[in-house]
Amino acid sequence: MTNTIEELNTKFKSSNPQDVLEFLLNDKTKIVALSSSFGAEDQVLTHMMLMHDKNANIFTLDTGRLPYETYDVMDSTNLKYGIKVDVFFPQNEKVEELYKTQGINGFYESIEKRKNCCFTRKIEPLQRALKDVDIWVTGLRASQSVTREDMPLFEYDETFKVIKVNPLIQYSEEDVWEYIKENNVPFNKLHKQGYPSIGCAPCTRPVKAGEDIRSGRWWWENPEHKECGLHAK
Ligand code: ADX
Ligand code: SF4
Repeated sequence: MTNTIEELNTKFKSSNPQDVLEFLLNDKTKIVALSSSFGAEDQVLTHMMLMHDKNANIFTLDTGRLPYETYDVMDSTNLKYGIKVDVFFPQNEKVEELYKTQGINGFYESIEKRKNCCFTRKIEPLQRALKDVDIWVTGLRASQSVTREDMPLFEYDETFKVIKVNPLIQYSEEDVWEYIKENNVPFNKLHKQGYPSIGCAPCTRPVKAGEDIRSGRWWWENPEHKECGLHAK
């Protein structure tokens, strides 16, 4: 693949996610990897990628604060597809330091403390996970939040120095669930209990009907702060 980001965005402007993934996975000179939180979107991408290549790279960041239900879907996904999703954990010394400096739930106290926790538990592990990756696949969708509505299909991620692709960028929530149903894809049971978006247990709560999809994430912060650094602009 020698195309520029601009060319890739033009080429795949009207393509479906499967075509984009097939194109990327067919290029054996590039390392393509999906980061999965086991949320509905990532489960769709997991299924799509494994249908094309049963050895596709999928990894997760286990922050140590995930809900039990996320571990259940991690397990059912591994079993269903006969895989073992790669897991990146935070560094134990860094978690111990975080605890010493801001306690176990310090993230509720300030944006700075919340970002420290996200850095130790997600960002640093993500840096390691992406070290040898050429193409980073994510489950971002434009309609998830105000911070995501302008995100393109392909972009160069300056923070992690990697090409990032968001194959479901144009998908609606209905599209995601239709695909899950049709293909019998395992999903996180919390989605059926009012959680459209699931992150760490202490930083995620259910949302009421009609509320913003991501309003249950870091609900004590303003919408424009609600990116943990994984997908900073
Ligand atoms: S977050 O930045 O607010 O946590 P969100 O939960 O919406 O992100 O997920 C967006 C995308 O980020 C997912 O589709 C996935 O690619 C990636 N992601 C989020 N959390 C994780 C995680 N714990 N492990 C791996 N990837 C993740
Ligand atoms: Fe820490 Fe909450 Fe960020 Fe998880 S989402 S890493 S618990 S601040």
